Parts: sequence; C-alpha cells; structure tokens
Amino acid sequence: MARIALVTGGIGGIGTAICTRLAKDGCSVVANHHPSESDAAEEWKKARASEGFDIATIAADVSSFEDATRMITEISEQYGPVDVLVNCAGITRDKTFKKMEAAQWQAVINVNLNSVFNVTRPVWEGMLERGFGRIINISSVNGQRGQFGQANYSAAKAGMHGFTMALAQEGASKGVTVNTISPGYVETAMTLAMDDAVRNSIIGGIPMRRMAQPDEIAAAIAFLASDQAAYVTGANLPVNGGLFMH
Ligand code: CAA
Repeated sequence: MARIALVTGGIGGIGTAICTRLAKDGCSVVANHHPSESDAAEEWKKARASEGFDIATIAADVSSFEDATRMITEISEQYGPVDVLVNCAGITRDKTFKKMEAAQWQAVINVNLNSVFNVTRPVWEGMLERGFGRIINISSVNGQRGQFGQANYSAAKAGMHGFTMALAQEGASKGVTVNTISPGYVETAMTLAMDDAVRNSIIGGIPMRRMAQPDEIAAAIAFLASDQAAYVTGANLPVNGGLFMH
C-alpha cells in the first residue's frame, strides 16, 4: 500500500516540489493549504493533474491546534493514517528588530513553529503504534546562522530543530524518524518578495552564486522519507549552496 504523505504549505514554492517528488516516489500525497487559499488550491490541483499527478488538497490553518487536529482526522478517514509528515508551512515578516511589532513576532512563531506541534501531535501516537513514521521539518539556513531583519523567523526556525532533536529520541526505538532540512535561499515567491538589491547581495555571498531550485530541496526530503534513511534521525541536513557550514 502506498504511504500517505502530508505536506503542510504544500501548494507553496518548496511545498509543490516536495509534493510532486513524493508522488513520483510512490506516496499518496495530500497538500495542505491555508483556508484563504482555496481557489488557488483548486488551480494548483488542476495544474498538477495536467502534469500527471493526482494530489489531494486539504484546507487547514496549521497555526490552530483545533484546525490541525480536524485536518488529521479527515485525512485518516478519507485516505488512511499519515506515514510521512513534512512540516513545510512558513511565512516571513522581515523587519529590523527595532521596528518589529508583537503581531509580526507572533504570526511567524505561530505559523512556523507552533504549527509543528499542532500537526505533529495528532499523527505522532499512530506512528509509534504502527512502528513506522517520518517527520521532516523544513527549517532554514537562517535558523542556523541568524539573519539581519529576521529575529522572529530565525527564532522559529532554530526552534524547529530543537523540536526535531527532542522528538527524534522519543521515536528512535519505534521506527519513527524525525529530521530537519535547512534550505538556503530557494527560488520561490518568498525570496522574490525581497528587495532586488538585498537579494543580489545575498546571492553574491553564496559560494555557489545562485539560489536553489525547489527540486533540489525536495530531493533531500525524498531521501529522508525513504526506507534507505531508516538510520538517520535527529539530523539537520543543510541544502544551502555552501552558504553556511558547520
Ligand atoms: N547586515 C548589517 N546591516 C544591514 C544588513 C545586514 N545584512 N542589511 C541591512 N543593513 C543595514 C542597512 O544598511 C541600514 O543601515 P542604515 O540605517 O545605517 O542606513 C539598516 O540596516 C536598516 O536597513 P533598512 O532601512 O533597509 O531597514 P528595513 O527595516 O526597512 O528593512 C529588511 C530591513 C526588510 C530586514 C531588509 O534588510 C531585508 O529584506 N533583509 C533581508 C532579510 C532576508 O534575508 N530575508 C529572507 C527572506 S527569504 C527566507 O526567509 C527563506 C529562507 O529561509 C532563506
């Protein structure tokens, strides 16, 4: 039977590449999107179908525990229990800290970090009971090294890997692995939203002198989701063109 994979933020730039890659690898994929994006999700589903992918979509605000729990219940009833969870939903509210408002801090912590609890918690016990699971948290190079103008985002992304390391220890003896991927700058709407001068200066500082393509991130997720990665847990795999090494 095909494994069920849920990708939060699944219709976004990196999310789309993850969904199609996991589908190619034989998973039955469900792409989560925010309830406000239902029209976009319909279009997205048609676009994927025209490429030959049958990917389900489901609306839920992952920053709400109640809505995330409802989503997991619906997926279990319609498709079966989630075997592979990719926590990919994320937003930016970049501001120098002296200008950052509480709402910008809270939005980023709620969507990028609290969502990881909200979605992982309702799938976790089932994975332990079935003796198989893959949790993959999409963090960022900026969670590893910090970034000017991203105190909120860097805090949330660093927090994701703390969660990974703790939970990996709870899943290790039960066949459930928990890992982090830390992408560098990837060609998506999120990085396009940056000012041109800022973006060009960032690219100039990347040893590979280019951003990543979303497929290059998805390839790393495909590995961690696979049976071959059974002994990898609690890891933080950077995919950043050499931008940060440690
Ligand atoms: N280091 C040191 N100083 C810097 C700096 C840096 N990296 N960047 C800007 N500054 C300086 C500016 O030169 C300016 O100095 P002066 O006041 O002396 O002139 C000062 O900081 C303030 O700059 P701004 O007036 O431009 O401040 P702002 O609040 O309007 O904008 C910002 C700040 C929006 C955060 C802008 O700097 C920015 O967009 N930075 C990039 C943030 C970034 O990398 N975001 C990543 C988005 S993609 C993503 O997050 C995906 C992922 O995981 C990688």
